[in-house]
Amino acid sequence: MDQNQESRLLLGIGGGISAYKSVDLVRRLKERGFDVRVVMTHAATTLVTPLTFQAVSGHPVRTTLLDATAEAGMSHIELARWADWLLIAPATADLMARLAAGIADDLLTTLALATEAPLCLAPAMNQHMWRHPATQENLHILRERGARILGPAEGDQACGDVGPGRMLEPIEIAEAMRPVTVHQLTGARILLTAGPTREPLDPVRYLSNRSSGRMGYALASALGSLGAEVVLVSGPTALAQPRIAELIQVETALDMRAAVMTQVSSCDIFVATAAVADYRPAESAGRKIKKDADELVLRLVRNPDILAEVADLASPPFTVGFAAETDDLERHALAKLTAKGLDMIAANQVGGAQGGFERDDNALTVFWKDGRRDLPLMSKTRLAQTLAELIAERYRGRHAAST
Ligand code: C5P
Repeated sequence: MDQNQESRLLLGIGGGISAYKSVDLVRRLKERGFDVRVVMTHAATTLVTPLTFQAVSGHPVRTTLLDATAEAGMSHIELARWADWLLIAPATADLMARLAAGIADDLLTTLALATEAPLCLAPAMNQHMWRHPATQENLHILRERGARILGPAEGDQACGDVGPGRMLEPIEIAEAMRPVTVHQLTGARILLTAGPTREPLDPVRYLSNRSSGRMGYALASALGSLGAEVVLVSGPTALAQPRIAELIQVETALDMRAAVMTQVSSCDIFVATAAVADYRPAESAGRKIKKDADELVLRLVRNPDILAEVADLASPPFTVGFAAETDDLERHALAKLTAKGLDMIAANQVGGAQGGFERDDNALTVFWKDGRRDLPLMSKTRLAQTLAELIAERYRGRHAAST
C-alpha cells in the first residue's frame, strides 16, 4: 500500500439549503489531505450545480445510479470500495430516514449500503424536523450502527426559526474528520491473524469453529487506513480481500503458525484475532474414514498458542490478543494479558444476546497493564476503526516511552 496515500473521502450532498456550504467543505477537506469525490442527491442538484462541486473537488460528480457513462468509468460498487470514509453533509431528515431504513433508491443511499467505509453524518434541517420523534429514532438507529454524528449546531436557521438543526460550519466538520484519519501508523508493519483454522480428520472432514473472520478483516482494513502496511494471515473465510499489503491464506493452526513465524521478525505490531483451534486430531487419516464402527474415538493433541509464542520471542513486536469469554470477562482477560505477556487484550462477551461470532455488531473491552477502555456495541467496521485508533495510540505511547 502507498504509505503516503491520501484518505479517500466520499462526500454525499443531501438536498438541504446548507448544501452551498459543502462547496467550502470540499476545500477544507482537501486542505487536510483528503481526496474528495462528491455524490449528490437529486434534490441537492436543484440547490447547487454538480459543476460547482466538480470544480472544487477536481473530479466528476455522480448524481444518478443508472448512468451508463459514469458506470463505465468507475462503477458505483468500485466507488463504494474506493472510499475510506463516507461523509454526508448536509444529511437531511429524509436522507437519515432512508439510511436508517436501509432504503437504496438513489446513488447515495445505495453507496451507503454498499460501502464498508465508516459513515459520518452532519445533519441539517429545521428545528422541528430535528426534534421530531421519527428523526430522533432514526438518529438513534444510525448511532447504534456506528455512524458518527457531527452536530447539528443551534442558532438561526435559513427558515427563520431558532434552534437545533443548523449544519456545523465546514471548518468544524473538516476538523472533526481530521483526528481520526491522521496517519498514525505510517511506517509501521502489522501482522494480523484472522478467521478460523481447519484441522483435518481425513481428506474430506475437519474440525473448525464459527469464526467468520469479519472482525479481523475489518481491523486489517482499519489499520491499513491509518497508514500501516498490513500482512494478514487468514484461515478459510468467505470474505473478499481487504485493501491491505498482503494476504496469506492458510488452513490449519500449524500452517498459521508457520506463516506468522516467517513474517513476524519484520513486523512492529502483531494482532491475533484468529480463532485458532486449540486442538487438532492426533492423526489425520490418508483416506476417508468409513462408518463401519459403532463408535469412533478421536484423539486430539494441543495446537501451539501462536500469540503466546510471538509474545515470548526475544524481541517481540507490540502484541494484541483477543479473548472471547462467556463469563467473568475482566478477570479472564486480565489473566490472559499477564499469562501470555501481551501489551493489549480486546475482550468480548460471547454466548449472550450482544455481538460476538457471526454477527455484524460487537462490543469490546480493551485492557492493558494499567488501563482499560470500553467500546460499546457498534458495527464491526466502526468498532475495528475505534480499536485500530486505540492500538495506534497505545503503540505510539509505548514507542515514545522507550525512545
Ligand atoms: O487462550 P485463548 O485461546 O482464549 O486466547 C485467545 C487469543 O490467543 C486470541 O488472540 C487468539 O488469536 C490467540 N490464539 C493463538 N493461538 C492459539 C490460540 C489462541 O494465537 N492456539
